[in-house]
Amino acid sequence: MTNRYDDAYRRSLEDPNGFWGEVAEDIHWYRKWDKVLDDSNPPFYRWFTGGEVNTCYNAVDRHVEAGRGDQPAFIYDSPVTNSVRTITYAQLQDQVARFAGVLSANGVGKGDRVIVYMPMVPEAAIAMLACARLGAVHSVVFGGFASNELAVRINDAKPKAIVSASCGIEGARVIPYKPLLDGAIDLADHKPDHCIILQRPQAEAPLIPGRDIDWAAAAAQAAPHDCVPVAATDPLYILYTSGTTGQPKGVVRDNGGHMVALKWTMSAVYDVQPGDAYWAASDVGWVVGHSYIVYAPLLHGCTSIFYEGKPVGTPDAGAFWRVISQHNVRVMFTAPTAFRAIKREDPHGEKLREYDLSNFKTLFLAGERTDPDTLAWAQEKLGVPVIDHWWQTETGWAIAANCMGLHEFPVKPGSPTKAAPGWNVQVLGEDHQPVKPGDIGAICCKLPLPPGSLPTLWQNDARYVSSYLEEFPGYYMTADAGYMDDDGYLYIMARTDDIINVAGHRLSTGGMEEVLAHHPDVAECAVIGVEDQLKGQLPFGFLVLNAGVDRPHDEIVAEVVKMVRDKIGAVAAFKQAVVVDRLPKTRSGKILRGTMQKIADNQDWKMPATIDDPVILEEITEALEGAGYGKSRH
Ligand code: COA
Ligand code: AMP
Repeated sequence: MTNRYDDAYRRSLEDPNGFWGEVAEDIHWYRKWDKVLDDSNPPFYRWFTGGEVNTCYNAVDRHVEAGRGDQPAFIYDSPVTNSVRTITYAQLQDQVARFAGVLSANGVGKGDRVIVYMPMVPEAAIAMLACARLGAVHSVVFGGFASNELAVRINDAKPKAIVSASCGIEGARVIPYKPLLDGAIDLADHKPDHCIILQRPQAEAPLIPGRDIDWAAAAAQAAPHDCVPVAATDPLYILYTSGTTGQPKGVVRDNGGHMVALKWTMSAVYDVQPGDAYWAASDVGWVVGHSYIVYAPLLHGCTSIFYEGKPVGTPDAGAFWRVISQHNVRVMFTAPTAFRAIKREDPHGEKLREYDLSNFKTLFLAGERTDPDTLAWAQEKLGVPVIDHWWQTETGWAIAANCMGLHEFPVKPGSPTKAAPGWNVQVLGEDHQPVKPGDIGAICCKLPLPPGSLPTLWQNDARYVSSYLEEFPGYYMTADAGYMDDDGYLYIMARTDDIINVAGHRLSTGGMEEVLAHHPDVAECAVIGVEDQLKGQLPFGFLVLNAGVDRPHDEIVAEVVKMVRDKIGAVAAFKQAVVVDRLPKTRSGKILRGTMQKIADNQDWKMPATIDDPVILEEITEALEGAGYGKSRH
């Protein structure tokens, strides 16, 4: 017997033109497409070529015209400023149109890039939507990144303007953004013409005359700008994500396919209705924020909760329950690490009893694997389905999920359930052939990828091909390893590259190594991800010092910790490193990071046959145990 999921899955792969063509009817088109799937230039595939759309029109204006003007589009809930603000669709239309007017008056037009470096205030979404309105390409940079990371993105995206705020608020700390922004522009070779700064009362920033523009003053005088039709295949945004080096990858998202896929996921995956309150507790700087704080909920006519706070400490472990209850949230989406933080502070879920969660229907988790303990705790305490789903910045939406709007499958702990419609997921072995159910391999998706996934990397087709398509011809390599069971459930076990996942944030250990290597006393280094009860993983560094360096190791470690914080940002959470005499390597000189990580996590490990000198591992083991890892963990 088949169900709606089986039917949708089969049809999406057998007849992608028919399947996505029908789904696309849910979007407003200025001009319909010539082709649903354009496969004329493999391995590059495009969706809805010939079509013309505007993402902002579909996310905002369309709902006002259809009578949703008075419905809240965003509820900005900010425990860190002790405020709640509702923005209706009509108000959002006015504010976005005005801000598009500000951008346009300052020379931003179709195809121009705009960097958005903002804390979690709704103006971040207004800036994104204003870019979409003009056909400009936004690139949001997460606020936890430091100047250098911002500078790298400025050089790559070459923005005409940067939109930022005077400060962010992290719990009780006010973090001035303007010095980071000014520092980044100083470092960057490319200079934006203008910076538009939202002044927040917690810490106003001095503006540079001629370059900087005050958001409020400019918006008050601006002429509202209408939506500009763009090609469905034109870029909507670039979102940089960690690659294997310090040079991040500029994931591109188009307009047409992105809207089609995202709007459809709101009903098929999340099972929410227009008008429902939907909450993704993430940050607009991450893909989850792009897709599920801003675009998908608005495309679907939902009310999106815009939360500037943490799961704990703002003010306590009941914060999530308060928001769900106060704003009548139907479906919530966050990272497992947030639930681990709550569980740690309130293991018995006592705070839950203070709130009425009767309207709450489903919790979705992603960003990292949902460990069975966290799953069981959330299921028991909340009494609603808890759905792990798996995706990446590159894919824009879930590759695997329990598609609650199509068919609810039994949850198997540790699995994000099955491949979502559109995703032909295969687990491949070293011979590039599918492996048997239960066997671990490289998780790959057969091309073409569905609408909404990345068509390429920003101005770098060659890197797109070499990073994702080259190793398994005909497939997109997710760089996750895992297996599929006999029922088609996927299990995502580990990354096959040097990406680690810290509190649901994707970070490159290679990028951190590049920073450590710049320390004048460091001859060689390695960074691995070690298991952490709260954040899933934490970075851990090994330093080999130059001959003759006899300074205290603590001092050097403190210096490299500061360097990573200054260069990459606080979000890297790099706080631990040890000095060792040598690094374990293969005979061909490859550092054995995988083995070091297994030792740190106290997992079984085998002496690699190709190791150059096994004695070094004893020293590494000792150093890790001295730092509280390895055998001294359990
Ligand atoms: N601007 C400036 N600094 C930021 C920042 C921002 N937007 N976001 C995080 N930081 C800082 C934090 O303050 C922290 O600084 P510290 O080292 O001085 O304490 C550092 O970056 C590391 O942040 P994080 O790893 O997030 O740790 P945390 O202790 O602040 O919070 C959690 C831990 C689990 C509560 C938090 O990560 C969380 O809620 N995560 C789940 C939701 C989520 O963001 N998911 C992302 C993808 S879905
Ligand atoms: P990001 O691009 O930041 O969304 O990170 C994507 C990576 O996070 C994936 O490649 C996985 O390694 C990991 N990830 C995200 N969601 C899950 C999940 N549900 N289960 C296991 N790993 C996940």
